[in-house]
Amino acid sequence: MKILFAILSLSLASSAYAENDPVLAHGQNLHDQKCTSCHNNQVYTREDRRVKSLNALSNQVNNCMKGPAKADWTVSETNSVIEYLNTKFYKF
Ligand code: HEC
Repeated sequence: MKILFAILSLSLASSAYAENDPVLAHGQNLHDQKCTSCHNNQVYTREDRRVKSLNALSNQVNNCMKGPAKADWTVSETNSVIEYLNTKFYKF
């Protein structure tokens, strides 16, 4: 019983950690400021979505960021958005 409790609290602790991950939170913040004017999150989850790999996700985020969104993010800001989208939607 004690072991079960230990495992349970460990997994609760790690899922809370994921939600509070500063990189993901930062990525979500940047994304929600610049990326929701043309498409909402459904574009990442629709059945015929175009992005099929982490590499393609990175390219697409860079294209949308530099082009239409005019976000002018640093590499590390861009990476935090890629990580946010991958963790939350794409899961490559
Ligand atoms: C000015 C409009 C516009 C803005 C702003 C914009 N996008 Fe896009 N985005 C598009 C269009 C158009 C598509 C292609 C949709 C399609 O194929 O139907 C797209 C597609 C995408 C896809 C691919 C979805 C798939 O099919 O898997 C990703 C990822 C994406 N955008 C990320 C972003 C991110 C990140 C930002 C913010 C930096 C952003 N977009 C801002 C217009 C925009």
